[in-house]
Amino acid sequence: MNKRMIALLILAVAGICLGAAQLPQHNLGRPATAEEIRKRDISVAPDGTGLPAGHGSVEEGRQVYKILCGSCHGDRGQGFGDYPPLVGGPLTPDETYAVTAFILYMNGIVDQKAELNEKSLSKVKMPNRDGFVLDPRTDVPTKEGKK
Ligand code: HEC
Repeated sequence: MNKRMIALLILAVAGICLGAAQLPQHNLGRPATAEEIRKRDISVAPDGTGLPAGHGSVEEGRQVYKILCGSCHGDRGQGFGDYPPLVGGPLTPDETYAVTAFILYMNGIVDQKAELNEKSLSKVKMPNRDGFVLDPRTDVPTKEGKK
């Protein structure tokens, strides 16, 4: 690189910096409100915090499943061959609790009278619930704070 090119490069970088500092403010956009963030926040903690209010029974789930899932996964969840994934639509909380209840029922995890909601879902005992190991690292914060 010759001196002329270096000088041009310095000028270009300086120009970009000055330009950025003098960018006009268009006053577009605004910070998201707490309500807007809440609507988009679909995180659910392992203890069930964050689950939407709602409920769904095995029988309701059987109907939702028959309409929305059975054509690909089979009427008992057995599936058919290798269906390509399609664009899906969101299920309401009630439909989701119901179809979850039905699938857990088909797996023998809840009984036929089970009704799932934001409180009972985290009480379902999944087969591997006791198979998890606590993180032994002392520098990793836990929900209660530092170990
Ligand atoms: C149009 C066909 C179709 C429909 C309808 C459909 N699925 Fe699926 N589903 C698939 C396919 C194909 C896969 C595998 C996707 C992959 O492996 O990337 C899949 C994967 C899944 C998986 C992950 C399974 C695993 O072992 O990883 C779950 C859970 C699931 N579907 C549940 C549902 C539920 C619940 C419904 C109804 C609300 C539903 N699906 C409706 C085709 C469908």
